[in-house]
Amino acid sequence: METDFKLNLTQRPRRLRRTEGIRKLVLETAISKNDLIAPLFVKGGDGQPEAIESMPSISRLNLEDLIKECEELFSLGVSAVALFPQVDPSLKNDDATYATNGDNLVLRSVRAIKKALPDLIVITDVALDPYTSHGHDGVLDKTGSVVLNDPTVQILCDMACQQAEAGVDLVAPSDMMDGRVGAIREVLDESGYINTGIMAYSAKFASAFYGPFREAVGSAQAARTKLLDKRTYQLNPANRNEAALECRLDADEGADILMVKPAGPYLDIIRDLRNASDLPVAAYQVSGEYAQIHAAAQLGWLDLEKSRDESLLAIKRAGADMILTYFAKEVAKALF
Ligand code: PBG
Repeated sequence: METDFKLNLTQRPRRLRRTEGIRKLVLETAISKNDLIAPLFVKGGDGQPEAIESMPSISRLNLEDLIKECEELFSLGVSAVALFPQVDPSLKNDDATYATNGDNLVLRSVRAIKKALPDLIVITDVALDPYTSHGHDGVLDKTGSVVLNDPTVQILCDMACQQAEAGVDLVAPSDMMDGRVGAIREVLDESGYINTGIMAYSAKFASAFYGPFREAVGSAQAARTKLLDKRTYQLNPANRNEAALECRLDADEGADILMVKPAGPYLDIIRDLRNASDLPVAAYQVSGEYAQIHAAAQLGWLDLEKSRDESLLAIKRAGADMILTYFAKEVAKALF
């Protein structure tokens, strides 16, 4: 179109978006491989990988395949993995005794990974939900309706110590019991594990976005619902101040890294935390966030790679230093 019309502007921000080269110069945020943590599901036995229907490309792996997956991730430049076990239902009970069995699936996995890949960072969950017959993250009182705080923390301390002994770099309490970070720090220090860090799930919300994960680890099958009500310990999605309080408490109790979970729907919480704390901030892009993007892409409604990359960029821009994401391997490949 030909026209002589011209605005008299001092600022024309589009100048800096004109070419790829200029856009690169003014880039403010980028995802790097250094930011990625891959969550992995491990199962007992030596069977084939089991696909998780609502999480395309993600499978439960036996120990041997788990090591292969770790090797691939490591060679792609992903430097950390977070392990989640699918525990055989016959090993679950009300008191989660298998959680502290010295030869359990997670501990065996940690030892095997550390033997094969000593430099891969291994993070383990400290929570009882894969081990309880009711699917809660803690033990229950006699009525079966109250998740007990202090007795749960006692078990978590034992769990964390065994994970430290097996060689993990970071233990990650994801249970939301009060006081667990301080208690775990104390017991780790007393036992000589001063260099085992704590990545605290500090602002963990009672979210519907955990559905696919609960199927993957089998806590949904144990509880006979994907929507097990964890509102007496996980945060209310409506509460921003309470999330700040939880983060402050975990920092005061000795956490090394603070986490916000889920990530995408909670970008304001990530930013609040980034501004309030000088500790590193982790964000967990959870199973439901991953499933959402994949489902829309399968329908042809979203571009998988572009929406994946944008979702991670937004989490980084909000202030996360590291991101747990089921996209870790694909993104690392794309960044190669
Ligand atoms: C519980 C735990 C959960 C996740 C990791 N550890 C959720 C829950 O059942 O409350 C969710 C991760 C995901 O959805 O990807 N200890």
